Amino acid sequence: MSETPAGTPGTTAGPSGDALENLLAEGRRFPPSPEFAAQANAGPDLYADAAADRLGFWAARARELTWETPFTEVLDWSGAPRARWFADGRLNAAYNAVDRHVEAGLGDRVAIHWEGEPGDTRTLTYADLQREVSRAANALEALGVRTGDRVAIYLPLIPEAIVAMLACARIGAPHSVVFGGFSAEALHTRILDAEASLVITADGGYRRGAPSALKPAVDEALAHGDTPVRHVLVVRRTAQDVDWTPGRDVWWHEAVDGAADVHAPVAVEAEHPLFILYTSGTTGKPKGIFHTTGGYLTQAAYTHSVVFDLKPDTDVYWCTADVGWVTGHTYVAYGPLLNGATQVLYEGTPDTPHKGRWWELVQKYGVTILYTAPTAIRTFMKWGEDVPARFDLSSLRVLGSVGEPINPEAWIWYRRVIGGDRTPVVDTWWQTETGGIMISPLPGVTRAKPGSAQVPLPGVSAEVVNEAGEPVGNGRGGYLVLTEPWPGMLRGIWGDERRFADTYWSRFPGFYFAGDGAKKDDDGDVWLLGRVDDVMNVSGHRLSTTEIESALVSHPWVAEAAVVGASDETTGQAVVAFVILRADAVERADEPGEGSDVVASLRAHVVHEIGPIAKPRSILIVPELPKTRSGKIMRRLLRDVAEHRTVGDVTTLADTSVMDMISAGLHGSAAAPA
Ligand code: PRX
Repeated sequence: MSETPAGTPGTTAGPSGDALENLLAEGRRFPPSPEFAAQANAGPDLYADAAADRLGFWAARARELTWETPFTEVLDWSGAPRARWFADGRLNAAYNAVDRHVEAGLGDRVAIHWEGEPGDTRTLTYADLQREVSRAANALEALGVRTGDRVAIYLPLIPEAIVAMLACARIGAPHSVVFGGFSAEALHTRILDAEASLVITADGGYRRGAPSALKPAVDEALAHGDTPVRHVLVVRRTAQDVDWTPGRDVWWHEAVDGAADVHAPVAVEAEHPLFILYTSGTTGKPKGIFHTTGGYLTQAAYTHSVVFDLKPDTDVYWCTADVGWVTGHTYVAYGPLLNGATQVLYEGTPDTPHKGRWWELVQKYGVTILYTAPTAIRTFMKWGEDVPARFDLSSLRVLGSVGEPINPEAWIWYRRVIGGDRTPVVDTWWQTETGGIMISPLPGVTRAKPGSAQVPLPGVSAEVVNEAGEPVGNGRGGYLVLTEPWPGMLRGIWGDERRFADTYWSRFPGFYFAGDGAKKDDDGDVWLLGRVDDVMNVSGHRLSTTEIESALVSHPWVAEAAVVGASDETTGQAVVAFVILRADAVERADEPGEGSDVVASLRAHVVHEIGPIAKPRSILIVPELPKTRSGKIMRRLLRDVAEHRTVGDVTTLADTSVMDMISAGLHGSAAAPA
């Protein structure tokens, strides 16, 4: 496996050696049934059409949207790597997601079946959504938001989250949604970077059976006093007490409910920014990935229709992602609504009040398409087959997976237990940066292979290359690149043109470097092998090792820290931190075990700096870190320790005894990995 990037220094994830060989030896195949193939939105000819005329193919997809001013140019790549798609056209995202369906006579169709965690429900038809979004757009304008202004959204998964996003889109104000699991500090840096002038939040949301607060984090973020935020619009969801800053804070129900329910959508240029979404990179500072309107919407609508085989008049679609992540942007807020789908939105956790909650919802709403992450599937596997068996899941006809590699066993379980051995399963590979699904089976076409994302979608060109950027061919590992521009591609990193070019376009000139290792098998199908950079994937959430290290060293007791993603049966990877304490703190850490003062304090500090999603599973206090002679931390060796493996080759270490010291220290304390 020496040619495989997974396993080389700098790699943080991915199966290697025997594990990889076992994966690729996966021989089970699941061709679509003739009945499914006969009714599918996409047939084999779609690949041929796209290959024959790639730009013509994308132009045809784009024309499925409604344009206020039709475009005449398809792609301008002269300013590469900054693409311009459909640049002389004008359109509005909210009009396309909502109004055009109402105008087509579909106003009574349910857009959203929303279910709160405590069991309260709301149903919004497309006509309801049009009125709500219009009211909210009028309210935003009354608060001074203008086309081009940025709006931060920090909400639980309630209908207002989607209404807020679409209201921003309606006036051409790029939104920046920040996941509710991020801390006040993380929210603050994102508000500052995007220079948002408005924050939309809620008093809180329901999580694990109890109200959790959100507004205090906004107050704390704004207490820095250095942001351009003028107003905070607050949805009342839980009726908790909130601190109130008069003049700045405004209740949603006061500003929105009384606003006029008619609003003229602002048609913007296709390249007008639609949203910024922050994601972790290899440095300590998150990247503001920004997407523009025409190309992104084209990618969202097309991929949502062909990958899930969506039939808008009969399907009930449910993507379980939060709108704080890209999956919730493209496959909750935009894709389904652009296609006029009926979807389910659920606020809470899968085991509240019982472990069958999701399956109860599938039964209740007759969900036909379910899109979720492997971590969730592995959790359900642990809970046992008898839980879903108590519910009627026979409505399901397509299952999707996203966010991390799905191991064949989880794939098979998903299809058998949830899909009744009947449904196609689509393993979809993509990223915040790609805007939409890039590599995935098509459910009516592809002979599915458990564990492999298989083939680039029609219109998408991907390759696996070596260090020199040359295709490695079948059977060899390499780096995944996208070789042609696509409409939904990121247009940049907000405020950092240079970092955009350096991060994605410099390693393999002319190609987009995804940061993932991959391998094609003998059929040419793509297997994703995990990140080849310092990015971890915990429960399908992207985290940066460097960002967590920076958080740890900002604690006064910490001298140095190294973080690795160690493989974890349920979450894919888990955060494991190795920490060297400052001399004065060492005394406090007489017993540096998992429950000790020091470890608890460091954990709490990471939660404060980044959020609960970044909380290390283990923090190991060590006397030294393994470094090369040039001072680079060898994370590969730390992963060996964290994953209980024999420590690998240490000959390039400046001090080869360091690993012995680390292992001895761990065995002598209670700090061994959980
Ligand atoms: O490593 C890949 C992994 O998730 C990364 C992108 O993370 P993010 O931008 O947060 O978007 C997640 C949802 C699209 C990728 O670089 N990843 C995503 N989907 C898959 C995957 N790895 C393997 N198989 C997938 N299907």
